[in-house]
Amino acid sequence: MPVTQAREISAAKRLENVRYAIRDLACVADEVIKQGHKVLPLNVGDPLNFDFQTPPHIIEAAYKAMRDGKNGYAPSPGVHEALEAIRGEAARKDITTVQDVFVTSGVSETVDLCISALVNPGEDILTPSPDYPLYSAVLCKLGIALNAYDLNEDDAWHPELADIERKLTPRTRGIVLINPNNPTGSLCSRQMLEQIAEIARRHNLVVFADEIYDKLILPDSNGDVTPHIAFAAVAPDVPCITFGGMSKNYLVPGWRIGWGIVSGDAAAVKAYTEGIHRLLRARLCANHPEQYAIKPALEGPQDHLIEVRRKLRSRRDLTQRWCESTPRISCVAPRGAFYAFPRIDIPESDEIFVKELIRQKHVMVVHGSGFGQKPGTQHFRIVFLPDEKTLTTAYAGIADFIRQRYGSA
Ligand SMILES: Cc1ncc(COP(=O)(O)O)c(C=O)c1O
Repeated sequence: MPVTQAREISAAKRLENVRYAIRDLACVADEVIKQGHKVLPLNVGDPLNFDFQTPPHIIEAAYKAMRDGKNGYAPSPGVHEALEAIRGEAARKDITTVQDVFVTSGVSETVDLCISALVNPGEDILTPSPDYPLYSAVLCKLGIALNAYDLNEDDAWHPELADIERKLTPRTRGIVLINPNNPTGSLCSRQMLEQIAEIARRHNLVVFADEIYDKLILPDSNGDVTPHIAFAAVAPDVPCITFGGMSKNYLVPGWRIGWGIVSGDAAAVKAYTEGIHRLLRARLCANHPEQYAIKPALEGPQDHLIEVRRKLRSRRDLTQRWCESTPRISCVAPRGAFYAFPRIDIPESDEIFVKELIRQKHVMVVHGSGFGQKPGTQHFRIVFLPDEKTLTTAYAGIADFIRQRYGSA
């Protein structure tokens, strides 16, 4: 046997700030599960963990594609009929200046490719705080310093325009807008989209409009539904990539199907789009047979969405009532997606709060510091996908925990 000295292989230093709190908490949950307890998972945004089913005609389309031999590599940008269906979807979203569309392995890959194709070392992209952690992870991976702008809890979690202006530098290349938002569940008004477009025009920014939850809009407290407004529809001239996908609206997160819709002035986005295509070719293609489900999903029956929104509305209302009646908790009512981001008034960190909550009550939520938040504030994110009975049990456990550990304020 050759004599070797085992030396530790260190991970790249630039990964030090990569956090994915949603999954990191799993270690604490594992401890509790090993002790024989069942953990109520209010932490992962996967509807298929709960009482939501993929529409059968979508499954049939992917299955048929496999049986028909669509099992080789696909064209790098995506298969023709899927691209046409995504163009149709862009038209329904009133996006009139589409310059390009492409299919990726989930919106996660769209985010990675589009950011990688844009930023040079020393440049930056404005990301929201709190944010969906993938954005900061991709930027860390690229060695790009984070430049986060605040979402304003006192203004329904809308982007804080003054903070965006403060954070802009001559080297800022783009801005991420997640609408409807994860983790806050907020929805942007048309006026807010117009104001962001104005900033993008003045500073020549690319807007990354993450609209993966665009069909999951919930009624407000009066029962009124505000239709989702695509950023690219409000600002057809602004260079924009709209991110969309199948994971949430069509209940197939495990298929890993997403897409990007490039819009704006043709000459302005040409070189950048070519850069994206270089990366699309380098990674060969997105999942092939599943792409044949995109057209039936976008153009076929949408009945499942009625049922999904009905369940989400009832669960959102239950969540909101609980937030309003529980000492130390306050919450901006979610208007879309399936997340609530309550504020909690406690004398210790929200990370300790969620870890102890898992250990003592076996309920798993994610701490606000895992998404970023204003210093001095504490929050946690609830995924309100479970049925009403499960949520009621979970909320009773959280309320007990708060009372026992902190008193009722
Ligand atoms: C805002 C946001 N963007 C992107 C994603 C990633 O989606 P996909 O499953 O398409 O990779 C998620 C997943 O939770 C998300 O919440």
